[in-house]
Amino acid sequence: MSSRPTVQTPADPRALPMTLPLLMEKKRLGDPLVMVTAYDYPSARAAQSAAVDLVLVGDSAATTVLGHSATTPVELDEMLMLARAVRRGLSTPLLIGDLPFGSYEVSDEQAITTAMRMVKEAGCEAVKLEGGGEASVRRARAIIGAGIPVMGHVGLTPQTATALGGWKAQGRSASAARKIAAEALALQEAGCFALVFEAIPSAVTTELMTLLEIPVIGIGAGPATDGQVLVFHDLLGIRDGLGARFVKRYANLQQEMNNGVGAYAEDVRARRYPGPEHGYSIDPAELAELRNGLRS
Ligand code: KIV
Repeated sequence: MSSRPTVQTPADPRALPMTLPLLMEKKRLGDPLVMVTAYDYPSARAAQSAAVDLVLVGDSAATTVLGHSATTPVELDEMLMLARAVRRGLSTPLLIGDLPFGSYEVSDEQAITTAMRMVKEAGCEAVKLEGGGEASVRRARAIIGAGIPVMGHVGLTPQTATALGGWKAQGRSASAARKIAAEALALQEAGCFALVFEAIPSAVTTELMTLLEIPVIGIGAGPATDGQVLVFHDLLGIRDGLGARFVKRYANLQQEMNNGVGAYAEDVRARRYPGPEHGYSIDPAELAELRNGLRS
């Protein structure tokens, strides 16, 4: 049995809402942070039932639920609709709304307005934005200044994947890793409460972790981060194909769904569904009266 201290929780740990101080406390104690994406009420209920710490309504919704081939097309109004559904399914995890491409880059005013909509209209408690360059850091600082907590995101940033040379690991040279370090430190200095590290070599992550005081959640960044995040559809296999090498698949729900809908279609075609047990009854006297009435 481990003698490592854990965060004090009430009898039912699921009853404890996640807060920013609690996140920092968990980091201090070395308690791994669990984050998952969600896009609707059922995925939120699954996240809640696992008592995860953080839920992200990711702009990965563009690919996972809206069928786009990149994250850039998803609109703010679409993200708000999804986030509202997730909000209804959660009680304890911290809910973070991803700011979609084009909704925060233009000006600090645009970034604050978008972040406020995520909070006011969808009930998000924090927002996430991508990139650690000068402009992203400025936007993060502006949103934080308006009172909304911001999670940063460095390494592979899918919204600007084309500019990064495609969907591939980042920080694989000393100079590229130093750039990620500088971005992470700038976002921390701007007041971000946490960072996502995406697709960064594990050994680089280990080095960068020694520089950072805020919690870091990794996805394809190795085991040294304070926590991990996976995309709901990737970890449950609700997709065709395998996805990125860092994904561990815990179920194959796409196959299950295909099987289920296929079996239903076969039953209907073979007139096996509906059976008598799926129908409603009517009092025979009422039926007789109906028949007479219809005949006359
Ligand atoms: O949109 C998303 O799902 C994300 C996670 C991969 C962190 O940004």
